[in-house]
Amino acid sequence: MQRVGRSIHAAFPTRPRHPLRALDVKAMEMAAEDQELRAALFRFVDVTPACTSFEDLARHLTAYLGEVDERPPPIEAAMRMSGTKPGRAALGAAAAAGVRHMAHRFIVGETPGAALRHIRRLWDHGAAVSLDLLGEATVTQPEADRYAARCLDALETLAEAAPRWPERPVLERDSLGSLPRVNVSVKVSALSPLLRPEAPEVGRDDAARRMRPLLLRAKQLGAHLHIDMESVDTLEATMQLVFEVLDEPRLRDGPSTGIVLQAYLRESPEQLEQVIAWAQSARREPPLVVRLVKGAYWDHEVVEARQHGWTPPVFERKSESDRNFELLTRRLLDGWPHVRPAIASHNLRSVAHAVAANRAAGRSDQDLELQVLRGLGDDLAAALADEGMRVRIYCPVGDMVAGMAYLVRRLLENTANESFLSDLQRGVGVEELLAAP
Ligand code: FAD
Ligand code: 2OP
Repeated sequence: MQRVGRSIHAAFPTRPRHPLRALDVKAMEMAAEDQELRAALFRFVDVTPACTSFEDLARHLTAYLGEVDERPPPIEAAMRMSGTKPGRAALGAAAAAGVRHMAHRFIVGETPGAALRHIRRLWDHGAAVSLDLLGEATVTQPEADRYAARCLDALETLAEAAPRWPERPVLERDSLGSLPRVNVSVKVSALSPLLRPEAPEVGRDDAARRMRPLLLRAKQLGAHLHIDMESVDTLEATMQLVFEVLDEPRLRDGPSTGIVLQAYLRESPEQLEQVIAWAQSARREPPLVVRLVKGAYWDHEVVEARQHGWTPPVFERKSESDRNFELLTRRLLDGWPHVRPAIASHNLRSVAHAVAANRAAGRSDQDLELQVLRGLGDDLAAALADEGMRVRIYCPVGDMVAGMAYLVRRLLENTANESFLSDLQRGVGVEELLAAP
């Protein structure tokens, strides 16, 4: 068994080495402890791409921080700096660099070509990748066309480079057959500006006409195309799109594709049954990959539902999402060989449960994929690769403007009261971290 994962950190260090990395980690730690500071950090990150100068940035920063009642000493120091023009310029420059560093923790490059070197290093060190093109919720047709063109470029760029990568049997095969080296994740809301819950078929058809050429090219290139899941108002259109397009005769025997299931949704057990029933009847070759996640839009779903006076579609206690994740993991493993399971989590308990459940079902580790996000799960990826597990790192590509919504979701997760990674940072003991939810 290859023992190569230990050096993933050398390939992608995310620990605070550079002083600015320490700065943005500190900012996230402080924000996790103070709700006002957390709000100020989000407002600032959100406005950063629109600021035209360092002074402008400093003005926004101090305006937001000014609303925080109890300011920790580093924030007080920042406020004092803003009293003079050179102070504001220095503060703006430091803040811009801090946000850039924060973004680079999660984003691997501006283009697929620029990310190739990192992807190759990860592969060399025992981890596969799913490349994600940043950009979502497009509002115009040309914007959606540009996103589809970027996805095509990602497929072509990776397919051109991948044959030069060394053999990695753990990453390239399971007991059902070979697994593509090239793997790209796409978002349906980026493929159509017409995605609306009240008329899911309109958005579905518009997205389908951009999705089809991507699937056909992926099939020619032997690549995998994964369709991410977004907020619940796009779920119906996304599921229908996947089922209908993949059922078209020229797409029934490839490419390798996948869908995402969100365990924080109260209706996710029924959704998983639907996916497994579809996979059983479609008998697709290669089988559909189902990536199980908890869900990245929790705050959005709760706020949206409360604004309308609805019951949120998501669980409201984290332990319920965690419990459901384990239930769905077991059901997903039962769906083999009609579906290939991919468990995506940074929570050691959720991941350990999946590994144990797969072994208890009498199946080999080779038939389970574990996935993490770049910048959040690098330690875990290294440890899992060391254990000879198949691990895939989701690597976003794009510029900061396209990546702002993604970045905000990662910051929300990083500064949430209830999250495995926050508990780990706070020093919660191993027994509690690994306890059944
Ligand atoms: P944990 O800390 O164990 O769980 C955090 C999660 O618990 C939150 O994200 C939320 O879902 C849930 N939660 C938090 N508070 C509460 C509460 N009060 N009540 C109920 N539930 C709560 N997400 C998507 O939505 N779509 C995708 O396509 C997608 N793709 C992903 C791909 C990969 C490779 C990975 C690793 C993650 C992906 N995610 C996706 C993100 C994922 O949904 C989670 O947001 C993230 O992984 C955090 O979950 P965790 O198990 O790592 O951490
Ligand atoms: C997101 O974009 C990772 O798909 C997930 O937040």
